[in-house]
Amino acid sequence: MKIKSKLPNVGTTIFTVMSALAKEHHAINLSQGFPNYPSSQKLNDLVTNAMNNGYNQYAPMAGNLELRLAIAHKYQLLYKSTYHPEKEITVTAGATQAIYTIISAFIRRNDEVIMFKPAYDCYEPAVEINGGKTIPVQLSAPNYSVNWEEVASKISPQTKMIIINSPHNPSGTIWSKDDMLQLQKLTRNTDIIILSDEVYEHIVFDDAQHQSACLFEDLKQRSFICASFGKTFHNTGWKIGYCCAPEALMVEFRKVHQFNVFSVHHPSQKGISDYMQDPETYLGLNTFFQRKRDLFLSLISESRFKFQPSQGTYFQVLDYSEITNESDVDFAKRLTKEFKIAAIPLSVFNTNNQDDKVLRFCFAKTDETLVKAAEILNSI
Ligand SMILES: Cc1ncc(COP(=O)(O)O)c(C=O)c1O
Repeated sequence: MKIKSKLPNVGTTIFTVMSALAKEHHAINLSQGFPNYPSSQKLNDLVTNAMNNGYNQYAPMAGNLELRLAIAHKYQLLYKSTYHPEKEITVTAGATQAIYTIISAFIRRNDEVIMFKPAYDCYEPAVEINGGKTIPVQLSAPNYSVNWEEVASKISPQTKMIIINSPHNPSGTIWSKDDMLQLQKLTRNTDIIILSDEVYEHIVFDDAQHQSACLFEDLKQRSFICASFGKTFHNTGWKIGYCCAPEALMVEFRKVHQFNVFSVHHPSQKGISDYMQDPETYLGLNTFFQRKRDLFLSLISESRFKFQPSQGTYFQVLDYSEITNESDVDFAKRLTKEFKIAAIPLSVFNTNNQDDKVLRFCFAKTDETLVKAAEILNSI
């Protein structure tokens, strides 16, 4: 049989490659973005209670209503922003499914989608499989700041969507209020949809404020916000997230959602809804992860790696240019095999694999793991 791939350029993701290499070489795995400590016992118990109390059949297509009410309450509390729980919020199988569904609901052949590189790796294949074209705006280490004139020059009559992501994976940078205002100005009076990937909204450091798309009234009218409970509640394996958008956009989203997922794991939704009744469950994340970032960075301050402290997410980018000229992919592989520590090379997320000689390390790990990782990094 002759198979004509719809995604001929897509192979195994770098996360799978590096995690497999880490396993093979018994390396400390700071490559993939997941915690190596347990999910909250209270949350686990609440999900178990939901199973024992009969939440075992299909949830409503848009999600368990109590959970949607809890999400709507969070947007009021944090951003004074209103989303109608029945019409403007949909629970999804992780942020990845929300992102894929948004793109397939709106992108047609030859539509252009602007995205900022380095970009999380699920955006581009979703655009491609729907016949769209990725229009990259390449950002560079160490600041990954946006040249808004360049963005303006890339907007064309074919531009259908702009994908943004702050706090940003993989760079650990965040967008300022001014960035959001620039985006708002550029897209005002257009039909461009904004896909705002905000999965790290609760992980912002040094008292900075997360600039959610919902804070900007004109942007909000054209935006989908995507979120992930896996990131927020330390259980990436549960794959539960959601998206919010104005009703007219959400109607189109649900037309696709109901036929590729219909609804997601019901007991987890009920358990998360009960857990979220206490806002500290998500408001405490900044402090929790800032302590881990500071521990990691203080431990490697004398190493030969250079860095600017991460502004958000649970990733820290380290510049290794004083150590070697090797490509970031080669160096990441050598670190894993010889030094027993795995990280992600950023070039794989860049246009033409631009290599800024930086690697991404995940610090959502136990203090013990971070101490061991730092010992290795100090020895290089
Ligand atoms: C920027 C970004 N968006 C989306 C996702 C996917 O989230 P989920 O695991 O909920 O699908 C991730 C996960 O690493 C991410 O880093």
